[in-house]
Amino acid sequence: MRLDKLLANSGYGSRKEVKALLKQGAVSVAGETVRDPALHVDPESGDVSVFGEPVDYREFIYLLMNKPPGVVSATEDNRDRTVIDLLPYEYRRFEPFPAGRLDKDTEGLLLITNDGKLAHALLSPKRHVEKTYFARVRGEVTARDGEAFAAGVGLDDGYVTKPAKLDILSAGEISKIELTITEGKFHQVKRMFEARGKEVVYLKRLSMGPLVLDPALSPGDYRELTEQELASLKQHQKG
Ligand code: URA
Repeated sequence: MRLDKLLANSGYGSRKEVKALLKQGAVSVAGETVRDPALHVDPESGDVSVFGEPVDYREFIYLLMNKPPGVVSATEDNRDRTVIDLLPYEYRRFEPFPAGRLDKDTEGLLLITNDGKLAHALLSPKRHVEKTYFARVRGEVTARDGEAFAAGVGLDDGYVTKPAKLDILSAGEISKIELTITEGKFHQVKRMFEARGKEVVYLKRLSMGPLVLDPALSPGDYRELTEQELASLKQHQKG
């Protein structure tokens, strides 16, 4: 790849700005200062540095975020802060987007990436990717609710949900549950409980396909996927 293209793609400015950097002698390849924008370099080699800092060249990024409440799962919003606003420029320059949506008040696992193909496969309704949520629910959740969810419940718009699996962790005035669904209708978990006359008062996503929320991530924190997580996600995408 041409050196000026690699630098521009890696966030060092427009081709023109990159040329200026080269002219001032800021760029080195394998330790040698270079000034030729047309020089061909191997993007994966890690040989290119700007002001002595190695250039991090890659096409895609994959971040696992523990979404905090109060921010929206979008790239831009006129009113609210978005999950992308929580990222530093180092990641924003890749123009990532959330793969799927969590409600503003929902917390938990959110994949943020610029790999459209992978995101699309993960979100495709045809794939039936399992998503598990933890919820606190006002009202006593019972085995009858579990049976109803296993059979499919009718939502307010008449849509009947696909079979879902309910685990009751504790039942009482406020019940604690885990629910695994394979689709992603708008407000789905909240509306499923509404259909049973109960109200979700807290919701957090624990997993999505092979990805599991990292307990080391506090709300608002994120990290890159490990190679293993990425490999299992790609495997899952193929399956
Ligand atoms: N179901 C909901 O009701 N809200 C979410 O954010 C995710 C699933």
